[in-house]
Amino acid sequence: MKISNPGILKYLLLLITLFGFYGQSQAQGMPDGEHRDKVIYACTACHGLDNVFSPSNEMSADDWEFYVYEMVARGAPVKPEDMQDIIDYLADNFSTK
Ligand code: HEC
Repeated sequence: MKISNPGILKYLLLLITLFGFYGQSQAQGMPDGEHRDKVIYACTACHGLDNVFSPSNEMSADDWEFYVYEMVARGAPVKPEDMQDIIDYLADNFSTK
């Protein structure tokens, strides 16, 4: 496909930029930690992080463990050696009860 209209390129660029900001804003509020990237990688394949950290989800450490196993059963890309890291990161930083 030959793109003869430079306007459409600007439009595409704008869209890409906006999606970039969207991704960043979702990851904001996630404390740095060596396991942060693992969580973002493993938990955004099917839904956004706002699904994971929805304020309506009251999560205890045990709940996080349950959900991580549940999501892996659904196909979340978590290596066996990363399981505990991801559970710990979520339980330490995002337990609400
Ligand atoms: C293979 C796809 C997939 C991946 C990867 C995935 N999930 Fe999910 N997750 C789902 C589906 C499907 C739902 C149900 C969506 C819905 O009900 O809207 C869900 C829902 C959730 C919910 C909301 C549960 C509720 O009852 O409100 C949480 C919390 C969650 N996932 C956490 C995680 C975490 C943490 C990870 C990373 C370890 C993860 N998910 C990765 C498929 C996935």
